[in-house]
Amino acid sequence: MIKNLTLTMIFGLIFIFQCLSAKGAMSDNFVKVSNTLFEINGERYTYLGTNFWYGLNLGSGGPGGDRNRLIRELDRLKLMGINNLRIQAGSEGPDTEPYRMLPSLQRSPGDYNVEVLEGLDFLLNEMRKRQMYAIMCLNNFWNWSGGMAQYLVWSGVVTTIPYPPPAINGNWSQYQQFTSQFYSNQRAMEIFNAHIRFIVNHTNTYTKVVYKNDPTIMAWELANEPRGGINKEDYFNWINSTSMLIKNLDPNHLVTIGSEGATSSLSSGTNFERDHSFVSIDYTTIHIWVQNWDIYKPNDATETYPKAIEFARKYIDDHEKIAKNLNKPLVLEEFGISRDQNSHDPQSTTTIRDKYYTEIFDYVYSKAVNGGIVAGCNFWAWAGEGRPRINEGLWKLNDSFIGDPPHETQGWYSVYDTDLYTREIIEKYATKMNGVGLIYDGPRQTLLIAIYTMLSLLVKII
Ligand SMILES: *[C@@H]1O[C@H](CO)[C@@H](O)[C@H](O)[C@H]1NC(C)=O
Ligand SMILES: *[C@@H]1O[C@H](CO)[C@@H](O)[C@H](O)[C@H]1NC(C)=O
Ligand SMILES: *[C@@H]1O[C@H](CO)[C@@H](O)[C@H](O)[C@H]1NC(C)=O
Ligand SMILES: *[C@@H]1O[C@H](CO)[C@@H](O)[C@H](O)[C@H]1NC(C)=O
Ligand SMILES: *[C@@H]1O[C@H](CO)[C@@H](O)[C@H](O)[C@H]1NC(C)=O
Repeated sequence: MIKNLTLTMIFGLIFIFQCLSAKGAMSDNFVKVSNTLFEINGERYTYLGTNFWYGLNLGSGGPGGDRNRLIRELDRLKLMGINNLRIQAGSEGPDTEPYRMLPSLQRSPGDYNVEVLEGLDFLLNEMRKRQMYAIMCLNNFWNWSGGMAQYLVWSGVVTTIPYPPPAINGNWSQYQQFTSQFYSNQRAMEIFNAHIRFIVNHTNTYTKVVYKNDPTIMAWELANEPRGGINKEDYFNWINSTSMLIKNLDPNHLVTIGSEGATSSLSSGTNFERDHSFVSIDYTTIHIWVQNWDIYKPNDATETYPKAIEFARKYIDDHEKIAKNLNKPLVLEEFGISRDQNSHDPQSTTTIRDKYYTEIFDYVYSKAVNGGIVAGCNFWAWAGEGRPRINEGLWKLNDSFIGDPPHETQGWYSVYDTDLYTREIIEKYATKMNGVGLIYDGPRQTLLIAIYTMLSLLVKII
């Protein structure tokens, strides 16, 4: 009884605090960019978020969905201080394809799976209740959600996709050359534009709010990791026309590309500065993959880890300089690293990951707190209570969703609910990132955040 009373009082105080700090309960305003900073209701918005691409499938009331789990995951994330999720708002069929996130949202052009669509509605509504913000990724350069390769097939000019590994004889560079034809294929782009028109103008079943009017959405992202490949000019023009299309349909929301930045290779055909130069692109993004780019080797961690963290810091610095020239915020929206010795076993140790997360979060935080252009990051990726069916196997229909997309070995980059120490680090830095706007605004709010931290601690103790 006394315990309940105390808890009620503490939650009451937290509520009052949130009202005082004005950053909390009012969520009728959109995330905006003002003078190179993100703002909500005139308050600075900085965040430590995660990638949660499978959220729409978890939210489905049909096959593959698990709404109770979704709610538990959102509660866990929120408790850790996370209020930013990067999610897929597009996935393409047909559902007979292997290594795709399934069931797909769009089974064939214009034919939507209502259960998955309502899964996205459900997810956004649950996020709204928790004051979380969504980055809505509309397409994909990689084929684990169908993406540009599938739009090319739908255009009718090609029938087969030269799939990358793990397909037998798969060749990544061939796949990229193939997929970058998307930007020159009028029909493929038109089918994608129809998806944009559909989703931006879609009315949420639960909230009755049209997506373009929903402040839970922070930004529309053209695609996950689009690359120009051998088709740079058409890629560049596609960024222009697609971002303009979205802005015309929906002036409320931010738009970004979904870019990795320079990547590890010139041949990927990205130009960070030029690609982000359009007025219809509101902020810049980078992805860092030290292991995929062969800088970090998990079996030679002692030797390669220092190089990897140095590379990552320099990658952030280099892109930050360009973002400053562009006068646009920068978000590190993907980065991750494997468990020790590349183990895919959820029980294995995560010493290196914990070190890497700490150092990256700390670097991002120190830039953000100094009024910098670096405004947030999303680690890759939250798996929560999901587990691989086979450690290091590939995902197939009805397997539980974890952080690793279907074409990647399951358990590679996933962070589980049982990774307690990793979670502590995430929580520590999420709290710090959430406090940046307040600290930035002066002593009154520094005091408030201290009180808030104390109250949150009290709740935990009780
Ligand atoms: C997946 O689960 C559904 C029921 O939710 C079932 O009908 C279907 O056969 C399963 N598919 C596979 C490939 O296991
Ligand atoms: C994606 O690529 C894999 C190999 O990487 C291939 O086997 C699979 O069929 C592709 N799935 C698609 C396009 O849905
Ligand atoms: C992969 O494709 C590229 C470009 O088409 C080609 O140059 C390279 O030789 C191929 N690699 C293999 C291992 O076949
Ligand atoms: C948006 O949807 C409404 C209602 O369904 C419809 O009347 C309107 O024409 C649509 N607008 C666009 C741009 O598609
Ligand atoms: C972007 O597109 C608009 C038309 O929508 C055009 O006027 C402008 O020149 C384009 N910008 C570039 C750099 O190509």
